[in-house]
Amino acid sequence: MYSDRILNADLSQKVITSEEAASFFKDKMVIASSGFTKAGDSKAVLAALAVRAKIDPLKVTLITGASLGHDTDAALVEAEALSLRLPFQVDRTLRKAINKGEVLFIDQHLGETANLLKANNFPKIDIAILEAIRINEDGSIVPTTSVGNSASFAELADKIIIEINTKVPFSLCGLHDIFSTGTYPNRTEIPITNASTRIGSDCIPIDINKIIGVVITEIIDSPAEIAPADESTMAISKHLINYFTDEVKKGNLTNSLMPLQAGIGKVANAVLNGFLDSDFENLTMYSEVLQDSTFDLLDSGKMTFASGSSITVSEAYYHRIFNDFDKYKDKVVLRPQDISNAAEVIRRLGVISINTALECDLYGNVNSTHVAGTDMMNGIGGSGDFARNAYLSIFVTQSVAKNNTISRIVPMVSHTDHNEHDVDIIVTEQGLADLRGLAPRQRAVAIIENCVHPLYKAQLQDYYDRAVARGGHTPHILEEAFSWYQLQKETGTMQRLCELV
Ligand code: COA
Repeated sequence: MYSDRILNADLSQKVITSEEAASFFKDKMVIASSGFTKAGDSKAVLAALAVRAKIDPLKVTLITGASLGHDTDAALVEAEALSLRLPFQVDRTLRKAINKGEVLFIDQHLGETANLLKANNFPKIDIAILEAIRINEDGSIVPTTSVGNSASFAELADKIIIEINTKVPFSLCGLHDIFSTGTYPNRTEIPITNASTRIGSDCIPIDINKIIGVVITEIIDSPAEIAPADESTMAISKHLINYFTDEVKKGNLTNSLMPLQAGIGKVANAVLNGFLDSDFENLTMYSEVLQDSTFDLLDSGKMTFASGSSITVSEAYYHRIFNDFDKYKDKVVLRPQDISNAAEVIRRLGVISINTALECDLYGNVNSTHVAGTDMMNGIGGSGDFARNAYLSIFVTQSVAKNNTISRIVPMVSHTDHNEHDVDIIVTEQGLADLRGLAPRQRAVAIIENCVHPLYKAQLQDYYDRAVARGGHTPHILEEAFSWYQLQKETGTMQRLCELV
């Protein structure tokens, strides 16, 4: 049975059910699981753990690459099985539990989790669950649609359960490039000089003695839910494409730009789609998540190579891409997330990073994570890894939210994920503010002029003028800086309606 999927004879004797695997977990354990933005996650064992926890209560710490699919986080929350979760999530139920304080959450740069674990700055991983296409004779595994933190989990966990996913075709073998930087103080350089450079092996090494069970599944990844582009996201995309076109005309960039990184969400996806009808050519990506738009760009010939840590696509694209994967084999690579998000490589390659802001302020500080400064949305993900080190760090956002009742450009952000020093360009559907080379007072002028929605422009200008009258390098009126949130809470809108009539 499964002789083509489990090449090691001893391990083929270790096939167990997901329920048996779930019985290995104990209260207070630290569990790690493969999975990065819904791709390559544990589909059977974590689900079985949630079922077990309902009748046999236990609470665990769960570490992943990034978000999980299949409502797994929700099932674990409903079973009250999670005490601590890191480093990223996108689940509604988990979000609620985090914001009620029922589940603790560490919102972490995705490129940093492996470093934290390797430096022993976190309790040891008891059991790791890793999805694989195949187990090789020596116990090494070929991961599926993501690499995420799996290589680090395999190295650090005491025990390992492998989930063999028989629905993932063998044509993905060879897609992955596994490399470890080693440990301090003897870490090595990461010799990637181009988005397409391969530096490691195509499988994750595993000490065979750690493998305590092999579970077979045939459940495919949860599909990415991508909202279609609308007027506003298309306007953002257009502003950016025009900006890049001008930079090429000025001789600051070539027609191939620099390797692109694009974050998650509908705006980032619309921006990438915007390249389809542009004059740019031979584009490359050095990113985290390869989405539908990446494959459209590869198919169109506009993009020649894409490097990421996961392939997270809609259902239609999943079948289209993986049923004919040989077509993409020499155009795509998946790397561990501490390599895809490594500062050293991002800086060397000169990545252009495009991420989404929940809100940003007058001076270019960006909040990507906390609604009104308190409630967690998803997490910082890899946006900080890229923004800090990118050649060009771009943040996109619609200028308003919730039926125009919230301005996404505010006097002072209620939580800072990316500070003004790491933000080069802000784009909304209103326009683009290039903040490079500008002092704070100049940045405020550029942002008010180009990015703010007309409903909030006079109000923000008024705040800024009064702040400037008080003086300062970065003028503010501290007692008023957060008043827009209070106003929205009390009246349902951030607009100072009384002054508009
Ligand atoms: N205050 C309150 N709610 C806000 C808001 C604000 N300032 N800005 C946006 N929202 C709400 C929207 O109304 C929307 O809610 P809805 O789904 O109920 O309509 C939701 O937040 C998402 O906003 P949207 O404009 O649809 O943006 P998006 O889908 O592009 O996502 C982020 C934006 C910031 C949430 C998302 O990009 C993210 O999580 N980023 C952080 C991680 C990251 O950047 N990773 C990149 C590397 S992978």
